[in-house]
Order: sequence, then structure tokens, then C-alpha cells
Amino acid sequence: MAKLITVINNKGGVGKTTIACHLAFASGEAGKRTLLCDFDTQGNAGQFLTKDLQITKRRGGSEQLFEQAELQYTPAWVDNIQLLHGHGYLQELDSRGDELSELAIQKRGEIRKLPFDYVIFDTPPALGPRQTAPLFWSDLAVVIVEPQLTSLTGMADVFKNIQDARKRNPSLQVQVVINRYTKASSSQKKVRAELEQKFGKMIVGEFTTRVAVSDALANYQPVWRFAKDKKLNAAWKDFSGRVLGL
Ligand SMILES: Nc1ncnc2c1ncn2[C@@H]1O[C@H](COP(=O)(O)OP(=O)(O)OP(=O)(O)O)[C@@H](O)[C@H]1O
Ligand SMILES: [Mg+2]
Repeated sequence: MAKLITVINNKGGVGKTTIACHLAFASGEAGKRTLLCDFDTQGNAGQFLTKDLQITKRRGGSEQLFEQAELQYTPAWVDNIQLLHGHGYLQELDSRGDELSELAIQKRGEIRKLPFDYVIFDTPPALGPRQTAPLFWSDLAVVIVEPQLTSLTGMADVFKNIQDARKRNPSLQVQVVINRYTKASSSQKKVRAELEQKFGKMIVGEFTTRVAVSDALANYQPVWRFAKDKKLNAAWKDFSGRVLGL
């Protein structure tokens, strides 16, 4: 059976796509059959994993999970990774509201039996069925948080969604990742301490803002194949292995 992981936060720009892609790269490199499913209309994960910047203009991606036909995957440019990409038309799913949520619940068994070792969902920075559906299906929600004052209230909303999803998916586990931490910022330091107190052992990783991280994906690579800093590379690789349980 596949392990299904949803990378999530209602807040934009915190590093969901960055982390979803790194989990996929690590899983693919470990020889695991990997599916990255992108529910964000921005579709950046699909761009990074296929080197095709136009992929976001094409249908035939993650919306297929709500259809009857046999799934057509797009292969990533690296081994072992298949994609159900994100694209602008995914927005059409949002108007289906409750009907889509019901369909997501019905499809749970089928999706959990997909022929992969890992299925990783990248999600949009907003509430809605494209965020809720993968929470119904997943074993693990990985919440990415940037340690800023406003993050704390945002986290309450994310955890409410997770609690709601647990009514349908009681075994859903949660992990938290602090990302884009700026050590020199006294306010971020304070928020980080609060996050640590609140989430404790749920925190499975912490990353400072490093240019090599964004540059790596802009070169279609994970950090550990791109950056020269061994410590940084090991941190990203170890973290990915930890979340995947490799
Ligand atoms: N640890 C990091 N160090 C440096 N840059 C980072 C780091 N994490 C993410 N970034 C950069 O921050 C920006 C936002 O990251 P990303 O796109 O992964 O966030 P997101 O949560 O998926 O955003 P959205 O909500 O818009 O989908 C990107 O330019 C990314 O390269
Ligand atoms: Mg994103």
C-alpha cells in the first residue's frame, strides 16, 4: 500500500511546493514508485519535475482523480516519479463544493490503492476541496510554517481543517516543518519559540532561508544535487528520509 502525504498550509509562499518536490525527489532517488499530485492552479511542482513550464496550461492533471477514466500520468524528468500535474483549470473544481467532497470520500479506497509506494500531494494556499480532498485520503499531513507573528493564527485554521478531515480519516497523522526561518530576526525567534512550545515533537524539520534552496529547484534539482554546502544538503536529505520513513 502507498503512503500518502499531503503538504499543506493555507498561507502562501511558506515552502509547500519546495518541500513536496524534495519529498518526491528523495523518494524517486530511493527507487520508490512515486506519484506527485499537484492540486495548486499555479502548478509549480509539475514545472520543476518535468522542466516543462507550459504544463500549467494543459488539462489532464490532478483533476483526473475525480473522474472515471483510467489515470494518465506525466513522467517526471527523473526516474521513478510520475505526475498528476496542477494547472489553471483546476479552479473549476472549486465550484463543485460539497459534491466534490462527497466524491473524494467515495474515491478514498481507490486512491489509497494506486500502484505507488508514495503519493505526495501539493496543495493550494487556500481552503477548499482541493485542500480537503487529499486530507481525506492521506496518512500524513505535513504542515509547513514560516515563523511569523501572523502564522500562529493561520495555523489554527489549518489544524481546524485537519480536525475536520479526521472525522472522515481518523488515522491522519500530523507533522510540522518550520521553514524560511531568519535567525537574525528577533520577532521570528520569538514565534519560533512559541511554535516549539506548542508543537514540540510534531516538528520534524527546520530550515532557514537559503538562496541555494530556491536556486536548486529553479535548476530542476533537489538541494542535495545542487548546493555545495554539505551540511545543508544532508539536512534536506535527512529530513526527506525522515518524513517518508525511509
Ligand atoms: N528554505 C528556503 N530557503 C530559501 N528559499 C525558499 C525556502 N523555502 C522556500 N523558498 C522559496 O520561497 C518561495 C515560496 O516557496 P514555495 O513556492 O515552495 O511556497 P508555497 O507554500 O508552495 O507557495 P504557494 O502557497 O504560492 O504555493 C519560492 O521562491 C521558494 O524557492
Ligand atoms: Mg506552492
